[in-house]
Parts: sequence; structure tokens; C-alpha cells
Amino acid sequence: MKCNRLVDAGRRQFLRGSLVGAAGAAASTVLPAQQAQARSLARVDYPANRLANISELVVNEPMDIEYPDADSPGVLLKLGQAVEGGVGPDGDIVAYSVLCPHKGWMLSYSAEDRTLNCPGHHSRFDAEAGGQQIWGHATNNLPQFVLRVDDAGDIYAEGVDELIYGRLSNVL
Ligand code: FES
Repeated sequence: MKCNRLVDAGRRQFLRGSLVGAAGAAASTVLPAQQAQARSLARVDYPANRLANISELVVNEPMDIEYPDADSPGVLLKLGQAVEGGVGPDGDIVAYSVLCPHKGWMLSYSAEDRTLNCPGHHSRFDAEAGGQQIWGHATNNLPQFVLRVDDAGDIYAEGVDELIYGRLSNVL
């Protein structure tokens, strides 16, 4: 008797598993459409904001900027030699968020070694290497702003390559 109950329980479990499997298979048939929708929702339309003109920049002297909005401070730099992500005639102009990817402390620029440095827990980021982290607690590289220079030398920011600290989307 006890043995029969166990067999019954086993059958019910098997049928339940089959139903779950069938439901999973049905769900997987609509997955591509859901994935396409998720991808389109993740797309971000960045503003093209004028940051400065090349003539205003001095080599190795940071200029404070904001991008993509006033709540996202950053820095614009002319480094004097071509670098990763650099724009302009010399390929040496870059821009970064100055909110530390670890916990959002404000970074400061060191002209001596061309790094952005966090006073919170001492993370350091290389301004000549696309904001690569070179030390500290952060687990992300520094968000770099995507730049464009027009014929008049005006510099525009038009995107960000990583998620800015504290945001679920770079454009709010
Ligand atoms: Fe910058 Fe922690 S907030 S390292």
C-alpha cells in the first residue's frame, strides 16, 4: 500500500515536471521577440552637448564639464599626445565622468601622472588609457564620454561608454 502511494507520488511529480517543461518550451518560442524588446528598451538616446572649443583648452589642464546633464560632473582634458578615445587634430582630447564608480566620490585630476584619483578609497584611473582603473576598490573603469570635434573646433559629447555612478540609465 505504502509502495503504491510512493509510485503515485512519483507519477504526479513526473507529470508536474512535464508540464513545467512544456511551459518552458512554449516560453522559449516567444523569447526572441522578448529579447528584441528588451534590447530596444536598453537603447539610450544621448544628447549632443557642446562642451568647449579646442582653442579654450590648455595641455594637461582639466576643464570642468557636465554631461549628459547638470547632475553628472566630468572633466575635459587635452593630453598633448594621441590617446585611447582621443579626438581633435592631435587625437589627444578626452573627457570622463568624475564620479568614482565605486561609491560616487568626486575624483580629482593629477597633472603629474595624468590620472583621476578618488579621495574616498583611493581608486585611481588612467586618463591616457580610456579611464582604466589602475588601483583601488572600484570594480569598473571610469566612464569615458564619447567626443566629436566639428570643423570650427567645437567639442561635443555624444555618449558614454560605461554606466555613470548611481544611475540605472546614463540619460535620465
Ligand atoms: Fe572611490 Fe571608493 S568611492 S574608491
